[in-house]
Amino acid sequence: MKRIPEQGRDREQLIAEMEEFRQNDANYREAKTWSLVYFLGDDHTEFLKRCYGLYFSENALNPMAFSSLKRFESEVVSMTASMLHGDQQVVGTMTSGGTESCLLAVKTYRDRARKRWRIWTGKPEMIAPETVHVAFEKAAEYFDVKMVHARVDRNYQVDVKSVARLINRNTALIVASAPCYPFGVVDPIDQLSRLALKHRIPLHVDACLGGFLLPWVERLGYPVPPFDFRLPGVTSITADIHKYGFAAKGASVILYRNQDYLKHQFFIHTDWAGGIYASPALLGTRPGGAIAAAWAAMQALGEEGYLDLARTTMDTTRKLIDGIGSLPEIEVLGQPHMSVFAYRSRTPEVSIYAVGDQMERRGWHIDRQQKPESLHAMVTPGHARVVDRYLADLKESVATVKGSPNLYAEGQAAMYGMISKIPLRGLIKNNVLKMMLEMYGPQGSIPDLGRQAEKEDLATRLGRLFLRLRH
Ligand SMILES: Cc1ncc(COP(=O)(O)O)c(C=O)c1O
Repeated sequence: MKRIPEQGRDREQLIAEMEEFRQNDANYREAKTWSLVYFLGDDHTEFLKRCYGLYFSENALNPMAFSSLKRFESEVVSMTASMLHGDQQVVGTMTSGGTESCLLAVKTYRDRARKRWRIWTGKPEMIAPETVHVAFEKAAEYFDVKMVHARVDRNYQVDVKSVARLINRNTALIVASAPCYPFGVVDPIDQLSRLALKHRIPLHVDACLGGFLLPWVERLGYPVPPFDFRLPGVTSITADIHKYGFAAKGASVILYRNQDYLKHQFFIHTDWAGGIYASPALLGTRPGGAIAAAWAAMQALGEEGYLDLARTTMDTTRKLIDGIGSLPEIEVLGQPHMSVFAYRSRTPEVSIYAVGDQMERRGWHIDRQQKPESLHAMVTPGHARVVDRYLADLKESVATVKGSPNLYAEGQAAMYGMISKIPLRGLIKNNVLKMMLEMYGPQGSIPDLGRQAEKEDLATRLGRLFLRLRH
């Protein structure tokens, strides 16, 4: 078991050790990753670090103590609201990220429903597309709200008729994505807005991904379906600054059309021995650095900066999508509205997971999806300089897989293929649980440097567990 060292250790030595630990982490600096990191280069990162550092110790839990943080938060909320075409009545808070924002939306509407129904004690329900971000499944589980999935059409947009059929007296909210994470398409939010108004049900738009990109994509002249406060039925929007807002990690915004909604988000306790406690969001202590750096990122980039970044991102995305489209064996799924998309195989000869393995052998960090089996990409401006290499490697990878059709049964492709096809999802869940217990167990199986060579991902570990199970 590890113990805190008896004597403090040399700081420089520790930094050197940490540098060594990160050697085998995903390589985002050279744009090898297609998720997780939104990196604009060293200049911007150093600037964010300075701004974060200025507020490193400050705590936004108490806005009276650090009024400058409250000012940043108010201005971030207000700038985001105006970017998303909200009026003076739009209010909101910052949160630590997309998941916290989505959790809060569900909690808010659950509490609002409970208050309004009073005598009716049914379980609140949320209607959301099958493609909605998994944070909403988490919210349903955490807050005991029933998740009701609406079907999506061939373009992975929610089927509005399916939503309409699912509405009942327990419906506390409808959720739509702008865009959804798996396929990058925006739901038909204008139609949902009409439906929501007709039934007087709140409509939440998860624009965690698109909130800080779609407004600029629209200004550049791309066709962007309406998704923001211009639609009268939209009652709240979540948008992440730590994604396409290019802020430090730990920054998102949740906006409501007016305070009648926001009031259900707050937590107030008046009888605690420690005093009267009021908290606007999920966290208690709120890191001041993330709030300050988010404000600074928005100020430093400005509309012009965001427009330029959106232009590069969309040019790169087009190049990628066209390149993928030129390969007859694979295809992009649906018609993505921004810089996030997935592609799959068009022929049984080519396993897309085997293509993923081949891409990883060529140094790319690849995200696999299921339903349908596909590879995923989230494009950032940094990818502009690697797009040709990526497409060349993809062409080669597809050819390799086509030439060796058995590759689907090897490496991670075999594991992912098996896991996506097993109908007993409960079995998979139990095994993931086992894996997590192992990872977070007493010995905490974080791979040390000696074991990095056998770099394992979720599928490989799951595969091992299945093999064990079969014996
Ligand atoms: C559409 C959407 N919503 C919510 C989230 C959750 O955001 P976070 O990872 O910051 O918690 C994501 C993350 O990718 C997302 O794409």
